[in-house]
Amino acid sequence: AAANIGVVGLAVMGSNLARNLASREGNTVAVYNRSRTKTDELVQAHPEAGFVPAFSYEEFAASLSKPRTAIIMVKAGGPTDAVIDELVKVFEPGDIIVDGGNAYFPDTIRREKAVRETGINFVGAGISGGEEGALNGPSIMPGGSDESWVTLGPILKSIAAVADDGEPCVTHIGHDGAGHFVKMVHNGIEYADMQLIAEAYDLIRRGTGRTPAEIADIFAEWNTGELESYLIEITAEVLRQVDAETGKPLVDVILDQAGAKGTGAWTVQTALSLGVPVSGIAEATFARSLSSHPEQREVARVLPGPGTEFQVDDADGFVEDVRQALFASKIIAYSQGFDEIRAGAAEYNWTIDLGAVSKIWRAGCIIRAQFLNRIADAYAEQPELPVLATAPYFADALTRGQAAWRRVVIAATQAGIPSPAFSSSLAYYDGLRADRLPAALVQGQRDFFGAHTYKRIDKEGTFHTLWSGDRTEIEAEDTH
Ligand code: 6PG
Repeated sequence: AAANIGVVGLAVMGSNLARNLASREGNTVAVYNRSRTKTDELVQAHPEAGFVPAFSYEEFAASLSKPRTAIIMVKAGGPTDAVIDELVKVFEPGDIIVDGGNAYFPDTIRREKAVRETGINFVGAGISGGEEGALNGPSIMPGGSDESWVTLGPILKSIAAVADDGEPCVTHIGHDGAGHFVKMVHNGIEYADMQLIAEAYDLIRRGTGRTPAEIADIFAEWNTGELESYLIEITAEVLRQVDAETGKPLVDVILDQAGAKGTGAWTVQTALSLGVPVSGIAEATFARSLSSHPEQREVARVLPGPGTEFQVDDADGFVEDVRQALFASKIIAYSQGFDEIRAGAAEYNWTIDLGAVSKIWRAGCIIRAQFLNRIADAYAEQPELPVLATAPYFADALTRGQAAWRRVVIAATQAGIPSPAFSSSLAYYDGLRADRLPAALVQGQRDFFGAHTYKRIDKEGTFHTLWSGDRTEIEAEDTH
C-alpha cells in the first residue's frame, strides 16, 4: 500500500486534481479510470507525479494505505452511483469515499446514509474553480462526518487554493449533503453574478455606443475597485477577444443562447421549497432559459418596444451609475444566497459557519472576489446576522448606490432593455425594507375565496370574514 490518496475518474477535472495532489509534499496518488487508456496516458504524460496506476478496483484498494481515501471525479448521477457501488465492495469500515463532482445534495444525503451503513465514510465535496482550479488550487466544500474530516482535512488543505491571508480555501462545511448544498448555492450566486455583469455590459454598450474593447477597459478598471473579482476580470478578457475568422469582437459572433448544466436550477428549486426568495438567482437562471428558446424569440420579434433610441447624455456618468447598480445588485445576490444556506442548514440540521463559507470562497472558486472578505467581516461581527445586506458595510454601499441603481433600472425599463437581475434585485431590496407590503391584500383575497384566514395587526388570534354572509368577522382555526 504505497498511496495515501486515490482518484477515480481521469477526465480533465480528475486528472488535474490527481496532478495537484501528487505535487504536494507527502502525497502519493493512486489513479484509476474505467478505460485503461486514460490511466496510461496520464501516468506516461506525468512521470514526475509518481502516480500509482491501478487497473481494477481490487488493485486500486490494495494500493491505498488505511484508512483508504478515494476521490471520485466522474459524472454526477448514475456514473457516480456505479463507482460508489464498486468502491464499497473493496473498501473497509473507516475508509473514506469522496464524491468531488457536482452532485445534487439530496443524492449526497441518500448516498451518505447508504454508505454509512457499511461503516465506510462518504463525503460529498463541492469543488469549484474549473480545470485550472483543480490543477492549481480549487475552493473545496466538503460535507460528511467529523471522523472523515480528520484524515481528509489535511489532504484537502494541501491542495486547496490559498487566500491572501494564507488560509486554505477548504473547511468542513457540515454533515452529509452540506458540502454539496453549499456548492450548489455557490453556483446559483455564480449565475447571478454572471447575469448582472452581462446586463451591465449590455446597458453600457447600448446606452453609450462603446465598443466591446472599450467596455473591456471599463471592466478592467472596475476590477481595481470594490468589484474586484475573477468574473469581472475574465469578462474584460472575453470582451477584448477578436474573432480570427471575421475580425469582429468575439462576443458579437457567439450565439446568444446561454447553456446551463442544472446547478442554478437546483438552487432555485431548493429555494422555492425552503421558501427563500433568491429572486436574483432565479432571474439569472430564467434569463438563460429565455435566451435558449430561439423559436419563441423569433415569433416575439413582432412585439413592440418603446420606439425610442437609447442614448444617454452623460456617458461617463451612466457608466458609473451602472457600476454602482452592479455592486448593489451583487450585494443582494450574495445576501440571498447566504440566506438560502442559512435556511438549508436549519432545514437539514447542519451547523454551517457562514463566515467560514465566505472565507473559502475568497480564492480558487469561480465567484472569488475581494468582496468576500467583507462578508467574512460581517459574519465575524454578527454570526447570526439575519440579512447579510444589512451589515454596516453593505448597508452603507446600498445607501450610496441606490440612487444610481434606480436610475439604471429606470433607463433600462424606458429603453426596453431587459435587466431582470438588476430590476429584481432592486424589487427585493424595496420589498424587504418596506414598512408594509400588499401581502395584506393577498391575505384578504385568500380569505375571500378559500377561507384561508388572516391575522390582525392589532390583536392576537386568527380571523375569517364571512364574505358570502353578512361580512362580519369571526375567530377561526389557523389554516395558514
Ligand atoms: C465551478 C463551476 C462549475 C460549473 C460550471 C458550469 O465552481 O467551478 O461552478 O462547477 O459546473 O461553471 O456550470 P453551468 O454549465 O451550469 O453554467
